[in-house]
Amino acid sequence: MSNFDEIVEICKRRGFFWPSFQIYGGSAGLYDYAPLGTILKENVYKIWMEEYLKIGAIPYDSPSITPEAVFRASGHLQRFADLATTCEQCKSSFKVESLLSNQGINLVPLNEDQAASLLLDNKIRCPKCGSFLKNAYNFNLMFQISSNGNEKLYLRPETAQGIFVNFKLLLTYNRGKLPMIVIQRGKGFRNEISPRQAIIRQREFNMAEVEVFIDPSNKSPFYPDKGEVITLLSNNGREQKKDIEKAFEEGIIGTPEHAYFMEVTLRIALRIGIDRNRLRFRQHRKDELAHYSSDCWDLEFLLDEDWVEIVGISDRGQFDVKNHQNSSGQNMSLGENGDIIPKVLEPAYGIDRMIMAILSSSYNKRESGYKVLSLKEEISPYVLAILPLQKKDGLTERAQELFNALRQIESRILFDDSGSIGRRYSRQDEIGTPYCITVDYDTLSRNVVTIRERDSQRQIKEVPIESLMEGFDFLNNPILQKFE
Ligand code: ATP
Ligand code: GLY
Repeated sequence: MSNFDEIVEICKRRGFFWPSFQIYGGSAGLYDYAPLGTILKENVYKIWMEEYLKIGAIPYDSPSITPEAVFRASGHLQRFADLATTCEQCKSSFKVESLLSNQGINLVPLNEDQAASLLLDNKIRCPKCGSFLKNAYNFNLMFQISSNGNEKLYLRPETAQGIFVNFKLLLTYNRGKLPMIVIQRGKGFRNEISPRQAIIRQREFNMAEVEVFIDPSNKSPFYPDKGEVITLLSNNGREQKKDIEKAFEEGIIGTPEHAYFMEVTLRIALRIGIDRNRLRFRQHRKDELAHYSSDCWDLEFLLDEDWVEIVGISDRGQFDVKNHQNSSGQNMSLGENGDIIPKVLEPAYGIDRMIMAILSSSYNKRESGYKVLSLKEEISPYVLAILPLQKKDGLTERAQELFNALRQIESRILFDDSGSIGRRYSRQDEIGTPYCITVDYDTLSRNVVTIRERDSQRQIKEVPIESLMEGFDFLNNPILQKFE
């Protein structure tokens, strides 16, 4: 089993996520977040939002269902498509670009004819049944839904358009000032040709998007300055470890705002516990760019052997606001003469893939074979588990009492009295709980407990309950330090 498969197995068994609608056989590309995953996801969103509020962002929340006019103007109706092929033998469908890249051919075909020729010339076979693939066709990734009347409606493939169409209202809210950073979390929907890898490629997924509106007639208000060093893979094939600020100064990253938001993105990725050594920024080749983008740097994570995009940071320029102005007839410009269209930089975060990157960064196996998720305290679904040593002599009742009291201080707390203490420790290790508090006979006689730390498995004995009740900041003042 690969590490990825082992993590997915833990997630299904322990309750982070699992395939949706299983009693009816499931449906490709749809996953539920189970109880632990739901808390983990909220913790990721919270940190993402906090980091953006810190730099002055304003939050927004628009509907998932969107009228056709929006996607006609944004270009999604015509161009949000992948070239697909369907096996004539077994009827499975695939994205041509992925089949080519599996063979080391890194290019995006320009049209159906070129895609079909590339399949034939390179003798590409169906990954399912081995037959040669021949045909190629354009496949729009948006889900169309029906309405009662004649209006055509779609499920949004990105949350961004809900912000762009409201640019003028948001600008008024922001007292007419640019730059303006608008953030929106929500579901995105794409009719992926071949959904796969659990939550990595789904048909309905969790996005966290940021639209940064900038006045193009002024000097950029954003400048990189955090001295963050990371691997950068430019679209000329050059890979180097570099300070992001230097990369901007040397012209590797095109604009200061692009470099600045790459830094913000890296900061968030590290804060939620993604392994820095398995991250890189990769610049899109020209043929890979989305129809609205003139430059894009993806934050990618090394998942087993493959680099997976987790965040896309795209320069959308004036594309969207200009198109909505032209299509709606509403003036969306600014400036004294009303002739300046803002430009937009967009960091678009895929929360599910970030969660997979967190899980993969935190996963390790002990020599004993037991599995551990070393999740950061800030992100783990639960911070503390209260465990009575045994289910007798009043230990359960005392532990329950302590649990009720501590719950007032820390809400991410669990109670577990089922199974041996060893099994309960390993259950908490597998779900990433950093601390277990064991209630034993000393608790009954002397009001002290044992605290066990997940990663070191150290046990600190004789911790007085009153000192726990004083309340502690788990993040900055870990309990272990307190009693060592
Ligand atoms: P890919 O090339 O892998 O299809 P993309 O370039 O289409 O991804 P974006 O359009 O940049 O992805 O979307 C922004 C983010 O949303 C991505 O970085 C990714 O984390 C996430 N994302 C995109 N498609 C999916 C999906 N089908 N399932 C889960 N997350 C997704
Ligand atoms: N809004 C970014 C994307 O859909 O790719």
